[in-house]
Amino acid sequence: MTEPTVVIMAAGQGTRMRSRVPKVLHPVCGRPMVLWPVHAALAAGARRVVVVGGADRALAGVLGDDPRVVLAVQERALGTGDAVRSAAAHIGAADTVVVLSGDVPLITPEAIAGLVAAHERAGAQATMATMLLDDPAGYGRVVRAAGGAVERVVETKAPGDATAEELAIREVNTGVYAFAGGLLLEQLAALSNDNAQGEYYLPGVLPGLAPVAAHLVDDPALTLGVNDRVDLARVTEIAQRRIVDAHARAGVTFVAPATTVVDAGVEIGMDTVVEPGCALRGATAVGERCTIGAHTTIIDSRLGDEVVVRHSHLDGADVRAGATVGPFAYLRPGAVLRERAKAGTFVEIKNSDIGEATKVPHLSYIGDADIGPGTNIGASNVTANYDGVRKHRTTIGARVKTSVDTTFVAPVTVGDEAYTAAGSVIVADVPPRALGVARSRQQNIEGYADRRRDDG
Ligand code: UD1
Ligand code: CA
Repeated sequence: MTEPTVVIMAAGQGTRMRSRVPKVLHPVCGRPMVLWPVHAALAAGARRVVVVGGADRALAGVLGDDPRVVLAVQERALGTGDAVRSAAAHIGAADTVVVLSGDVPLITPEAIAGLVAAHERAGAQATMATMLLDDPAGYGRVVRAAGGAVERVVETKAPGDATAEELAIREVNTGVYAFAGGLLLEQLAALSNDNAQGEYYLPGVLPGLAPVAAHLVDDPALTLGVNDRVDLARVTEIAQRRIVDAHARAGVTFVAPATTVVDAGVEIGMDTVVEPGCALRGATAVGERCTIGAHTTIIDSRLGDEVVVRHSHLDGADVRAGATVGPFAYLRPGAVLRERAKAGTFVEIKNSDIGEATKVPHLSYIGDADIGPGTNIGASNVTANYDGVRKHRTTIGARVKTSVDTTFVAPVTVGDEAYTAAGSVIVADVPPRALGVARSRQQNIEGYADRRRDDG
């Protein structure tokens, strides 16, 4: 198969989204809408992908750094024909050119490859993917010549272009085409905007080409366009199911798939179980044989093998093999849990390195700290890392045992195998193997109850 040049029209404003964000930049499963057809085109073997964006340059910087993907700008939205014309500099005369839309994100690599194959089989100058719809309202209708070849497309959005007879046609233009590059460029140069909408219609090139083949498909993904946020939700639901199903086929168990959110690009290892109500977002990678407990959110985090997370929120965390998290833990950016470490119940960890097999089991805040291996942090330990102006680090060594309610006023260092006493506010370094006690002594007042006048 020829490697096509794929043009993605994405310069429309998308007013019905009611948004300050351009339509094609709204995320579908964590990935900007316009990148879905870009990925599909690359997976279908495109040699080049030209995304046609608007004059606001909103697409600059979102297309990634794949050298095959380039941005072309359509200065004014004069119609789909003008959009493709804006990509002319990237179209070679010998190219097979596939045209897609940035707001029809669910197109598959298979559909693109199928269209190019049909185009080549037919030996056509243009091939249009068409569908038979029960309700063709709004779509361009396909007018075929007596022999079955495509004669033209008549637009139906605005009254005036189509006759009553043409409106009765159920075969529609999906807006997905393959063209012979050189002939396409010639026809685009000659295109007129003499029609009901005063636009340069891309299908206007078809009467100048022959033969034009129709590639009749039965693929709803080709017509699932996004015009408003209801469409966006519908498309997201289908995209989400595709993502979850692909992970399931690769060996991941989803206990309640319909309640699970997994962004495009998330990696999950074999035999990992994802319980109900979880969200795995952004650049997250989860290892094998992990358990992601119910109602957990994991964003931009990396989890090793056999990690267990229960009902927790992780953002920018690095959790190594065999570590356990939660329930109700909050791991923030820069939290590193080394192998078999534990961040337990009501524990918040930020920008801290928690050593191998070290445990922070209950009710603690650890920020800007380095803790060695085999250490046990007592309940309710807090690093006082912020003096109101600057952040300071707390360093705790290996095999340390801190008692409940220890506060570390950073910067401070606790040596290997040291201890702290319950309720201590540690403001000075504790040497290795020492006990740091930093609290006032208890005093008992004997017979106090007897002396209280109001008592009994
Ligand atoms: C188009 C087809 C119609 C087909 C339908 C399928 C034309 C004239 N009509 O109609 O036959 O049935 O798709 O969905 O092509 N765009 C630009 N610049 C522009 C205009 C549009 O980049 O100046 C982009 C839009 O952002 C969108 C795509 O091109 O991604 C399609 O444009 P749209 O206005 O939605 O075309 P339709 O009216 O749906
Ligand atoms: Ca459309």
